[in-house]
Amino acid sequence: MLTAAAAPAQRVQAVLDVDLPGPRINRHLYGHFAEHLGRCVYGGFWVGEDSAVPNEAGIRLDVVEALRALDIPNLRWPGGCFADTYHWRDGVGPREQRPTMVNSHWGDVVEDNSFGTHEFMALCELLGAAPYVSANVGSGTVREAAEWIEYLTRADDSPMARLRRANGRDEPWSVPFWGLGNEPWGCGGGMGAAAYAELARQFGTYSLDHGDNHLYRIAAGAADADYRWTEVLMQNLGRYLGAGPVSGHGTNTYQAISFHHYTITGPTWDEKGSATAFDVGEYYRTMLKARGVERIIAGHANVMDAYDPDKRVGLVLDEWGTWFDVEPGTNPGFLFQQNTVRDALVAAVHFDAFHRHADRLVMANIAQTVNVLQAVLLTDGDTLVLTPTYHVFAMNKGHQDATSLPLTVRGAAPSRRVGEEELTTFSASASTKDGQVLVSLSNLDAEAPLEVSLHVRGGAVSAPHARVLTADRVSDHNTAASTPVAVRDLDEVHLRDGVLTATLPAHSFATVTFATGD
Ligand code: AHR
Repeated sequence: MLTAAAAPAQRVQAVLDVDLPGPRINRHLYGHFAEHLGRCVYGGFWVGEDSAVPNEAGIRLDVVEALRALDIPNLRWPGGCFADTYHWRDGVGPREQRPTMVNSHWGDVVEDNSFGTHEFMALCELLGAAPYVSANVGSGTVREAAEWIEYLTRADDSPMARLRRANGRDEPWSVPFWGLGNEPWGCGGGMGAAAYAELARQFGTYSLDHGDNHLYRIAAGAADADYRWTEVLMQNLGRYLGAGPVSGHGTNTYQAISFHHYTITGPTWDEKGSATAFDVGEYYRTMLKARGVERIIAGHANVMDAYDPDKRVGLVLDEWGTWFDVEPGTNPGFLFQQNTVRDALVAAVHFDAFHRHADRLVMANIAQTVNVLQAVLLTDGDTLVLTPTYHVFAMNKGHQDATSLPLTVRGAAPSRRVGEEELTTFSASASTKDGQVLVSLSNLDAEAPLEVSLHVRGGAVSAPHARVLTADRVSDHNTAASTPVAVRDLDEVHLRDGVLTATLPAHSFATVTFATGD
């Protein structure tokens, strides 16, 4: 197993300009995703009112408390692939009368619809998170989607508002984010880009803004680097991009385009590799894949720039994260995997890329929040485990709605040869908010520490404080019995003549905060 050997320290120099503000880092880049898949919703968020696990109206409170501590900005639901099989009317009204259905994508299990619209909206209220609801475009109807948004957001005596009241909710909810299907090229209907683009416009047109509720409609986008898909969706916006806002009466269409990108290390879909048992070669291949997200974001952004130089259409990465083989003995359709220091570093490099592309990338959602894929939380009965990925979200929280700052490597960055490619093993980004600067630093080298010298220009530095997340082994992970992957203060930080020097342990993620002034 991979441990941090006593390899000699590597060095990197970087320049941080605190007086050159870049674009705002939208807090929705720290978004989440909850699908009816495995134990994400059932057992993860929802235990039911009769559970021995402490809950409020069926929603488990330990999960809520842990997520509130992250200031989670939004939650996407009900899928994923599940969204295009979901009929919302099956999930409202008295629970004991709700029809069941087969969750054909995930484990072929029977879904009892006990967690539906009201339960999801109550969850968002408890979390203080904005709902991102994905409409069923693949197997649903335009009318069904139109009535769902009326049910959710209309205040007057309309038929759907009346139905909502009959089901116990008087006031409309606010629903800012509205997804137009999911992966239409695959599980969401097996369509081509042009066919989907027409459908997206049709569904968008009938997904109305009721009262004060203004929908940000997100068209389902490409897999990975399928830039052509993005291009077709941009062309399809056509005249709506000519002038004025992208939305408006009669021109609802869509305001953003999504894409999905998972970090998959193994050579085939059936051999993605173990989440916890991997060698150094596999570790570096994972890092190479993870760093590749930046090229893909830039690719989609470039296509969008050609049609929309003013950046009125948002780019949304509404599924990202690692995807490994399921834990031995678990249902293959439940996508349950452990989460190690490696996952934390994957998250860290994703956030650095998000911050650098904050001018176009407006939202991102990790897949998924609890018990599925790169989860930030794992539950087992009444126990709750904070994964290494959770700690990256926590340490990076200050970037939400902050102003990005340019951080530039001076000279050569440390790197490793991985097959035919070169992996840069230093990753970093920075932002400022309320007179404080937050710098995120990753040392991706599995064995060698890294001494980082940060030359701060454009403002004085005071009261630096650093924290680090790591463990002895890059495969270390947290369980109910032990939590070797934890955050601690990083004492090895020095300030001299405006240069901050910190030594990062091998395979570690660190944050440095400091105040700036003249
Ligand atoms: O997150 C798991 C699945 O991955 C989602 O349901 C789907 O959209 C994607 O393929």
